[in-house]
Amino acid sequence: MNAGSDALTVTHLVKEYRAHRTVFRAVDDVSFRIPRGATFGLVGESGSGKSTIARCALNLIQPTSGTSLVDGADPARVRGRALRQLRARTGFVFQNPKAALNPRLRIRDSVAEPLRTHTALKPAEIDKRVAALLDEVGLSSSHADRLPHQLSGGQAQRAGVARAIATEPELIVLDEPTSALDVSVQAQVLNLLQRLKQERGLSYLLISHDLDVVRYMSDEAGVMRRGQMVESGPADVVLRTPSHEYTRQLLAAMPATPGAVEIVPGGDERSILL
Ligand SMILES: Nc1ncnc2c1ncn2[C@@H]1O[C@H](COP(=O)(O)OP(=O)(O)OP(=O)(O)O)[C@@H](O)[C@H]1O
Ligand SMILES: [Mg+2]
Repeated sequence: MNAGSDALTVTHLVKEYRAHRTVFRAVDDVSFRIPRGATFGLVGESGSGKSTIARCALNLIQPTSGTSLVDGADPARVRGRALRQLRARTGFVFQNPKAALNPRLRIRDSVAEPLRTHTALKPAEIDKRVAALLDEVGLSSSHADRLPHQLSGGQAQRAGVARAIATEPELIVLDEPTSALDVSVQAQVLNLLQRLKQERGLSYLLISHDLDVVRYMSDEAGVMRRGQMVESGPADVVLRTPSHEYTRQLLAAMPATPGAVEIVPGGDERSILL
């Protein structure tokens, strides 16, 4: 951990995709920072570049230009062991938990995999760590021996979260972490994520089309439109009293879901909050 540096600093990020001699700019000069322990929410219409930013930020794909520093270090500039160590300081939780887990691996092996790849822990230590991780996300040892398709959506996402935090990362990207889940399960997973954030001092980059989720979870928020961040600032200001017309349209377009999840800060993550 580098003293004084942000969990993530994205500066003038540009990502262009090339196809058939045409160039498409999916991310156009985006800058933002996530102080350690904070959550930054990214909202915006489909195709506006949110997932591309997340993949560039964790260096899963190469940006065309600009930089993304994880805990003050540039993953594009380190190689070998240093890169593996830097990768271990980040985690990724995906939208569709069952698709994100290897269908042929038992849950305990999916959670153990990053530990086998990124750490020098002995098998017995890995077993112990996996049991503790599953317990931490509310799964039992009976879940550990199942394959992903033998879990419910919420259980599979808990396993996805256990895998993401296995190497004790400081920064986690949550790309639509609850949008594939039943409404009744969404609040449980969100409250689990909030608890882990507090207990482990995590920082989150949260992508969600659900503005209520972003408001509840985020300290700051950024609004994406066609590759550009048109507005950013404190989440409650941006998402309650936006200054940009596009954000106002986004808020107006959001359906007022009757009986939608009411998220109780610090609430019981096992209870169904309707
Ligand atoms: N590998 C790729 N090759 C070419 N174009 C791509 C590629 N990946 C994404 N794009 C394009 O870049 C743009 C941004 O995509 P991205 O997945 O970042 O959007 P998003 O905001 O995450 O959308 P959604 O809310 O639907 O997940 C889209 O127009 C998409 O079609
Ligand atoms: Mg996306």
